[in-house]
Amino acid sequence: MKDFYIELDNFIENLDNKKDDYKILSFVVDELGYIPDEVIDYVAKKIDVFSFSLDSTIKFYPKLQKARTKFYVQVCTGRNCNQSGLKEKIAEIKDRVSFIIDERHCLGRCSKGRALKVNEQYYSYKNLDELEKILLNLK
Ligand code: FES
Repeated sequence: MKDFYIELDNFIENLDNKKDDYKILSFVVDELGYIPDEVIDYVAKKIDVFSFSLDSTIKFYPKLQKARTKFYVQVCTGRNCNQSGLKEKIAEIKDRVSFIIDERHCLGRCSKGRALKVNEQYYSYKNLDELEKILLNLK
């Protein structure tokens, strides 16, 4: 992480507008794949803004929003993937994890079993227990 902060400092130094939080946060996503809390605090201090100002920028841009946590999970609740209790199970898992879980109507994987996507990786699962196991084992 030390090297990352050196690169981040250099990136900010070379910006024409050193408070361009979208460019800075995009750099973070490109380098780390997500935006850790500690990096938000670091950037806020570095460019002299409040952390909640960066949170507002993140919420405004889908690219940043999806990368707000280490894992961005999309669970298909579409016709071919839905099953009794799926939405309740998703809600239950959401309470137990710190990453974002969104519901999607189709992930385009209907022929491969029930689908979910974690960042750019697709998974298939058979039942709610397997779904829970996959999501709770993300580290
Ligand atoms: S309905 Fe789930 S992948 Fe198409």
